[in-house]
Amino acid sequence: MPNFTSPTNIVTGQNFVKDYDFSQYGKKAFIVTDNFFKDKIDYLYNNLKKQEISYTIFAEIGQEPTDNIVYAATKEYRKEACDFIIAIGGGSVIDTAKLAAVIKDNEKVADLFPQPVDRKHIPLIAIPTTAGTGSEVTQFTIISDTTTDTKLLLKGPAFMPTVALVDAELSSSMPKSLTAATGLDAFTHAIEAFTSRKAQPLSDIFAISALKKIIKNLPEAYNNGSNKEARAEMSLAALEAGIAFNNASVTIVHGMSRPLGALYHIPHGISNAMLLEKCMRYVSPAGKDRFALLATELGYEGSADEKVEKLMNVITELCNICEIPSLKEYGVDMVSFERNIEKMANDAMASGSPQNCIMDVKLEDVIRLYKSYL
Ligand SMILES: [Fe+2]
Repeated sequence: MPNFTSPTNIVTGQNFVKDYDFSQYGKKAFIVTDNFFKDKIDYLYNNLKKQEISYTIFAEIGQEPTDNIVYAATKEYRKEACDFIIAIGGGSVIDTAKLAAVIKDNEKVADLFPQPVDRKHIPLIAIPTTAGTGSEVTQFTIISDTTTDTKLLLKGPAFMPTVALVDAELSSSMPKSLTAATGLDAFTHAIEAFTSRKAQPLSDIFAISALKKIIKNLPEAYNNGSNKEARAEMSLAALEAGIAFNNASVTIVHGMSRPLGALYHIPHGISNAMLLEKCMRYVSPAGKDRFALLATELGYEGSADEKVEKLMNVITELCNICEIPSLKEYGVDMVSFERNIEKMANDAMASGSPQNCIMDVKLEDVIRLYKSYL
C-alpha cells in the first residue's frame, strides 16, 4: 500500500524569515550557507541577535556538495557546541547540512549508503533560497564521494529537516541561469514523480499542481525575474514537486544526471534539462497511458499519442525558453564523455533511480541514451 510522508513542518509566505522565532531551537546556531550568500543574509543575523542567539557561520559550500565539506561542517558545529543548524541556500547547502546533522564522528558518507538512515539528529532548519531542489521537504541528500568520483543518493527519515521555511522573497533575486536550472529541476522532480512506478494518488496531486505552476510561471520568472507573483508560484511549485518525489521518487533523468554532475560539474538542474526530453521520449511508449493521463491533467487534448507529443513539446519549449545548452555547447569534452559512458551508466543504475521508471530500464538502455548525445 502506498505510504505518503511529509513529516517536516513547513512554513510558507513572503518575507517572514527576518522575524521567525528561532529561539525555540536553542541559544546557539550553526549557519550553513555559501560564500555568495553569507554577505546577503543580514536579516537573518539581525533576527538572531534580536533573539540573543549566538551563531557560527560555515560558508564553505561550493557548487556541488562533497563528503569532505560534510566532515568539516560536522567537526565545526560539534566543536562550537551549537544547539541547532540553519541551512540557508540552494540544494547543495541544504544537502550538506542534512548529512552534517546526521553523520557520526569518524563515520564515512559511503557507510550511510544505500540503506535508509533513521536516527535522531540536531534540529535542522532548512531555508531554500532557490525554487527548485525541494531538498527542504525530502528524505534525500546527494553528496559526491570524492574517493570514487560518484554522487551518492542517501535516503531515510533522518535526512528530513526539522522545519522548512519557504520564503518566496528569498528566491526573487536569483539570476537567470539559476532560475532556469532550479525551475527545470523542479519540473523534472514533478514529471518523474508522476511517471514513477512508485507514484500514488497523493503524490500525483502535488506533481500535477507543481507542473501546472511551472509551465505557467517559469517562462515569466526566467524572462522577468522581478515578477513577484511568478517567483512566488515557482517557490510553491518547487515545494510541491519536492513533496511529490519524496514519496514517489525520481527516475531515469536524475539517475543519468548525477554522473554528469560528478564528472563534468554541470549544475544539477541543467544536466537534468539536457536529458529530460530524450529520456521521457524513451520511456513514454512503455507508459503511454500514464503520460497521456498527465497530459490530460495539464489540459492537453487529442488522442493519447497526440497528448503525449504535446507534453514532450512543452519540455522542448521550456528548455528553449530557458536557453539550455547541449553538452557540447556547455563545454563537455565529448571524447572524455564517450570514454566514460560505461562508468556513468553503471553509476546511474547503481543509484536505483532508473529502476523506478514506468519502463523496465536496463543498463543497455542507459548506455544507448548516453550514446545518443555523441
Ligand atoms: Fe533534482
